Amino acid sequence: MIDYNTIQRIIDTAEVTEVIQDFVNLKKRGVNFLGLCPFHNEKTPSFTVSPAKGIYKCFGCGKGGNSVNFIMEHEHLGYPEALKYLAKKYNIEVVEKELTAEEIQQQNERDSLLVVTKYANTYFQEKLHKNNDGRAIGLSYFKERGFRDDIIEKFELGYSLDVRDAFTIAAKEQGYKIEFLETTGLTIVNDNGNFDRFRGRVIFPIHGLSGNVIGFGGRILKTDAKAAKYLNSPESDIYHKSRILYGMYYAKKSITQLDKCFLVEGYTDVISMHQSGIENVVASSGTSLTVDQIRLIKRFTPNVTIIYDGDAAGIKASLRGIDLVLEQGLNVKVLLLPEGEDPDSFSKSRSSTELTEYIEKNEEDFITFKTRLLSKDTKNDPVKKANLITDIVRSISVIPETIIRTVYIKECSNILDIDEKILYGEINKIRRKNFDKEYKKTISPEDNFKSAIPSVPSFVDDVYSEAQEKELIRLLLHYSDKTLYTYQEDKYDEPRNVSVAEYVISEMLNDDLEFKNLIYKQIFLEYLEAVNKSDSLESKHFIYHSEPQISKLAADLLSTSYTLSKIFKKGGANIETEEMKLKQIVPETIIAYKRKILEIAQSKAKEKLREVENEKLSLEETNKLQKEFMQISTVINSISKDRGWVVFK
Ligand code: CTP
Ligand code: MN
Repeated sequence: MIDYNTIQRIIDTAEVTEVIQDFVNLKKRGVNFLGLCPFHNEKTPSFTVSPAKGIYKCFGCGKGGNSVNFIMEHEHLGYPEALKYLAKKYNIEVVEKELTAEEIQQQNERDSLLVVTKYANTYFQEKLHKNNDGRAIGLSYFKERGFRDDIIEKFELGYSLDVRDAFTIAAKEQGYKIEFLETTGLTIVNDNGNFDRFRGRVIFPIHGLSGNVIGFGGRILKTDAKAAKYLNSPESDIYHKSRILYGMYYAKKSITQLDKCFLVEGYTDVISMHQSGIENVVASSGTSLTVDQIRLIKRFTPNVTIIYDGDAAGIKASLRGIDLVLEQGLNVKVLLLPEGEDPDSFSKSRSSTELTEYIEKNEEDFITFKTRLLSKDTKNDPVKKANLITDIVRSISVIPETIIRTVYIKECSNILDIDEKILYGEINKIRRKNFDKEYKKTISPEDNFKSAIPSVPSFVDDVYSEAQEKELIRLLLHYSDKTLYTYQEDKYDEPRNVSVAEYVISEMLNDDLEFKNLIYKQIFLEYLEAVNKSDSLESKHFIYHSEPQISKLAADLLSTSYTLSKIFKKGGANIETEEMKLKQIVPETIIAYKRKILEIAQSKAKEKLREVENEKLSLEETNKLQKEFMQISTVINSISKDRGWVVFK
């Protein structure tokens, strides 16, 4: 951790134009400086730096911030790394805050592992280029595959001798501890001694974002059916397979510039595409794509094109990838290469222009892709067409952005010739279901305040209490984003503020309750969607709502003349605003609402039970009714007993 005073010194010293001038040619314009934005392609400058305010802002792409932000953005560094970069530029000594013994040990361990992998990387490269076997076997293999010298060097490819423990011995001689050789997986230690994991393989080092070698992939050279084609480093403190993408270190600059990322499957795909001049490419390296990997791409661009081979496995992987990428809010295209080709083979015989043109011409958005793929055997079969629609609808429903969803719904409606309304209906159904599931997961049942309010039994539905529903909506409109309480799941977590909207939503969803008035229901669902995206909705949103009934209601409920909640009217001479008492009012309103619908359900059940007397009901039905009646009564009683809740402190 960098010490606070050091951070202040760095921030005070790092003058914004000086920092940016290292990367961008700035010209003075009045009090500001102007240049070509380094974050997007432009011909006329719209990148402005204000020395007076200490900030930069691009009016083309919207990026902006202070000098630290600039370095973070431009060099793809984290906050502490950016600070260190600036400290170096200005010769500021970085004082690190004292770490705990545990932190130091962890830091030391990671550093030791990185030192070992760095050594191994140099060792393997040296063997490839200087050792006779390395040259005859390893280097000639890469050459045969058509890799150019500059590319072999750029990707730091290497060779591990086909000797049991040549590397391990060399590393130990250099003073590297066997413990770290084992943790990085370079050496396998067992009862029979030490073995080099990658012996007899060509080496593809895997770089972390800042260029450290964190792991290796080793490819076998013999055709041996028993041995795996690739061996990879095991998981360790420095290497987390699911969080890295092969090639990202070499690709990040190009991805940012072109605002697009190609996703391929393997090491050689990445390397060959680089060789053909396409550098915005990364590989998931044999693991199926993970959410963390997609988030990594998202740090650089929202645009992904998946390029896999056109065989069955490739198709299956792309289909899976599509939904994952969509779910993270990225735009996804797909390009299936002709069967038998992978990006490696495909790019071999093509120039960068040819390749780019081919990709541009053949990449498809996911709806076209799925439609083409799945309608091959759909023809005029209505059942198969319905399945295809269901499949596409499911993909659209995972897109978090409403606007993007709308665009795709339009496209889907055009391509498949179905009414947009039907698509909206289906998609909303799926979204609601998924949301409920997710939301219930995030609100933990241990959350003690909530269990304070009894649940409405699930068989109670179809009851409607206009006044109570309206009161809840009124509270939402007035106070939706006010914090109701702070909640900390675990003592190590950041405390989280739970808003009125979140609380009301969780109370409703946990008991499977639904607003029966359709206008209220619509408002509730819009809050639900906003909360889902961690947004808040201003009351303006409803006052200017496109649905006139909603805007009218919102104006009505938001006007101050509306009587305050009954619970609260009893107040004395001291004026306390409603807002000051939300902690009391909101749960009380929920309770009042639940009690009301329970009472309605109770009297309904009573009425039905009367029919028993007329002998209209079977014994089974009677028993069920009686049980329900009792259950409802129990809940109502528990609410009455506990009047005067102190739900929140
Ligand atoms: N892979 C792996 N272990 C295997 C097979 C594959 O880790 N036993 C990973 C590697 O990262 C590989 C990627 O999956 O790069 C894609 O596999 P494949 O297409 O079989 O390999 P290529 O990269 O095409 O390698 P080559 O062209 O050398 O056969
Ligand atoms: Mn290949």
